[in-house]
Amino acid sequence: MVCNQCHQAPSGKLEGKYMADLPSMFGKVWAPNITSHAEYGSGRYSNSELAYLLRTGVKRDGKFAPPWMPKFPHLSDQDLQNVIAYLRSDEPELAPSDVVQPASQPSLLSKFLCRVAFKPLPYPEKTIEAPPISDKVAYGKYLVTAKVDCYGCHSQSFETTNQMEPEKTPGYLGGGNPMPDLEGNIVVTRNLTPDKETGLGNWTEEQFLLALKTGIRPSGPALRYPMTPYTALTDEEAKAIWAYLQTVPAIHNKVDRPD
Ligand code: HEC
Ligand code: HEC
Repeated sequence: MVCNQCHQAPSGKLEGKYMADLPSMFGKVWAPNITSHAEYGSGRYSNSELAYLLRTGVKRDGKFAPPWMPKFPHLSDQDLQNVIAYLRSDEPELAPSDVVQPASQPSLLSKFLCRVAFKPLPYPEKTIEAPPISDKVAYGKYLVTAKVDCYGCHSQSFETTNQMEPEKTPGYLGGGNPMPDLEGNIVVTRNLTPDKETGLGNWTEEQFLLALKTGIRPSGPALRYPMTPYTALTDEEAKAIWAYLQTVPAIHNKVDRPD
């Protein structure tokens, strides 16, 4: 659900692609091949190397993967192992592919930021457990902050995302983060807090589920890229997200939606 947004090629395989929506100031970036190929895909990583990369951002060559490869510091150990098991599976999209994406051409700014600002995250010292899905609010928070990372896009700015303590991110879930679509037009994230006037305060659970899973909003045009509908979320998961969003502090932040 998450990895395919960047790693899935038009062929359907997870053999990587050009990241057209990365702001040009960061340079040109290709998401690499992560099919099970033993030389060109994630097959060359051991299970522990994959776990280390997904937690900390450090690749098997010892280099740090820039922020456009997300890190998963709060994902449960079980979910982390499940992702690795999936990468090892014989699902058709992971069948070995020998496609090699062009080497990324990070701008000077990216290289500079990778030295001074972006740092590997610490590997967790203790086992991380997910809350039970029956605890809706806790599980919803887990999805929003650890597994699907809605908060990164839906808070004020990527520059101030607090990866270790997501809820301390400025403008947490209040929207207003501008991002380019595939044609370079700017799309601004929406306010997901329960504010009546500028957030989702007047939405029903049903309207939320429909928007999240199909992209259809209660009124007005459908949701646009990069808000791709989360068709693979179960209703139970989507309802947990809704339950959690009711509990976050309302932020009054009107986000204009240029059409
Ligand atoms: C927002 C886009 C994005 C998402 C989402 C994403 N990745 Fe990546 N991934 C990248 C980019 C870009 C790189 C290359 C980073 C670099 O240049 O160092 C990368 C690198 C990798 C690598 C290292 C490959 C190598 O050749 O060393 C692996 C493995 C990987 N990703 C797996 C995953 C998995 C598994 C997920 C989902 C849990 C995921 N990625 C989600 C963009 C993404
Ligand atoms: C890659 C960034 C990104 C991620 C990740 C993301 N969103 Fe969005 N979301 C957006 C953008 C951009 C919009 C605005 C789209 C538009 O204006 O058409 C949006 C719009 C929405 C809306 C519509 C609100 C309204 O007022 O119309 C909802 C609901 C929503 N997102 C929920 C979520 C949830 C829940 C998650 C996590 C499961 C999530 N989003 C993850 C970027 C993202």
